[in-house]
Amino acid sequence: MREIGTVGVIGLGTMGAGIVEVFARGGLRVVGVETTQELADRGRAILQASTDRAVKKGRLDEDGQAEILGRVTITTRMADLADADLVVEAVPEILDLKHRVFGQLDDIVGEDAVLASNTSSLSITSIAAGTRHPARVVGMHFFNPAPVLKLVEVITTLRTDEDVTAAVVALAGRIGKKPVVVGDRAGFVANYLLFGYFVSALKMLEQGHVSREDLDTAMRVGAGLPMGPCTLMDLVGLDVCHHIGEVIYAHSRSPMHAPSTLLERMVTAGLLGRKSGRGFYTYAAPGSGQVVEDEQTPSTAAATDLSAVGVVGTGELADELVSRLQDGGYAVTRVEDPADRAELARLADVGLVVEAQAPAPPPGEEELADAQAWVEATGEDLWEALGEVVGPGAVLTTVNPEAAVAVGALSGRPEQVAVLQVHAPTGNGQVVEIGRSSATDDATVALLREVVTRIGAEPVVCRDRSGMVVDALLVPHLNDAVRMLDEGYAGVADIDTALQHGLGYPTGPFAMIDQIGADEVLAVCEELSAGGTGLPADALRPSPLLLEHVLLDRPFTS
Ligand code: CAA
Repeated sequence: MREIGTVGVIGLGTMGAGIVEVFARGGLRVVGVETTQELADRGRAILQASTDRAVKKGRLDEDGQAEILGRVTITTRMADLADADLVVEAVPEILDLKHRVFGQLDDIVGEDAVLASNTSSLSITSIAAGTRHPARVVGMHFFNPAPVLKLVEVITTLRTDEDVTAAVVALAGRIGKKPVVVGDRAGFVANYLLFGYFVSALKMLEQGHVSREDLDTAMRVGAGLPMGPCTLMDLVGLDVCHHIGEVIYAHSRSPMHAPSTLLERMVTAGLLGRKSGRGFYTYAAPGSGQVVEDEQTPSTAAATDLSAVGVVGTGELADELVSRLQDGGYAVTRVEDPADRAELARLADVGLVVEAQAPAPPPGEEELADAQAWVEATGEDLWEALGEVVGPGAVLTTVNPEAAVAVGALSGRPEQVAVLQVHAPTGNGQVVEIGRSSATDDATVALLREVVTRIGAEPVVCRDRSGMVVDALLVPHLNDAVRMLDEGYAGVADIDTALQHGLGYPTGPFAMIDQIGADEVLAVCEELSAGGTGLPADALRPSPLLLEHVLLDRPFTS
């Protein structure tokens, strides 16, 4: 097999400089090429800053840093790549430019050298078609930040030599990366799945379903992802996102990838994310990751004088809420049997009622009686009675989803009604979603935000729609991974590796599905499909393969 000892990297922006660092850390000699001395100096500065940070954090000593930097030559002459066994280009995403670069390389490097592209949006096949030896061209797609994220997508074309692929895979393993080999398709694995999710997140923002902060909290804390979509798009660059999104849409033609007009307007207005100092958020300076306040930053609401809370219901969730509300300093009145009107009258003085009866069980024969009881207990009578019993300023909530409008109408106080959806904790904390109807007032929302914070969770406020934010974004994203598997583009292990190591997810999507339960994922998909979410219908339609796994009771991972 080909031995790769010296590598070249062309283009030393964020990705190129990161790739140089990865190779140098892996013990290879690296030649980094830029077009001007100024850009070359900027590339060296990125490398210096990244390794300085590692030294400061004690992950690298100064000798180690000197060794890494000593392996790197930075130059403005392409001819310095003559000895490279592999060259990775990370120049701007313009096909002509890539052709020019690879055309020059054909005259400089040896016949055996491998030519790789870090493109995230162009087809490797069309890049290879502009070279004299397409058999030695592959994609080698790194993820930002390249020194941290371990995924390398190795993209082959119909002409790529097996020997070339094997050499690149072996090299990626040698430098501590996780290679995944896939065919040449728009978005490859990670971006293809990421962008379906981005489009839905952008729709939510555009529709005013949720604020940027709450959207990010929902996915970071509620779904356990390393970053929310707004923070991540700002990191990647909104222009890059827009471009990749268009390429994926051109391939799939699916409304779930249809370019977002919001994103397009932001790019046209020069809001490109961190690099321009402003994207979804505003940053301390161009290139900085430090978010500063702007006109969209929510003001910190004044504390309310809520002290007494009523919890209606029995069951685990009701028990947990009672103890967490007590720990949060509230006086809690518990009503276990709401059908007993004398009991209900004990809620006369509370400022907030949380109806937390166990949600209706699935209508199996045995549970049918319980389900009926639940419907009766939480039906019109309860909400009408609560509307009469509690004081005029009190807020009414239910943990049973999509009920804000009905409860608002039945209780006669729609301004003071919302739905609470309590999520299981993730590695990043716990989210409680607060679903408001069009009538719910801001004071109610502020009060509920305060309560959620005081019980140790993070609030996410959105419209009361199927799946709120967390389920409406996460579940279709998981379903999309199943669809990719069903299409035969990549296998379970590769898709899991791609999202875990390319996007920093705590586990891959199939491991998540098995953890949540494929039946649960399917049920949410079906509910989202049937309910009005405002998201593209084809994003929500369950994959037939998901249904198969549920019916056959087969996990995706073993
Ligand atoms: N360069 C080098 N190291 C970096 C770094 C950078 N730019 N940014 C962070 N790090 C290191 C830190 O030094 C730290 O290391 P230690 O834990 O050893 O001290 C580690 O990464 C974690 O960093 P932080 O504690 O500062 O912050 P964090 O825990 O929030 O992690 C993150 C930051 C690694 C960026 C994480 O949030 C993450 O993985 N986010 C998801 C990013 C993602 O999805 N990237 C892919 C985008 S798509 C793409 O790139 C492909 C494309 O084609 C567009």
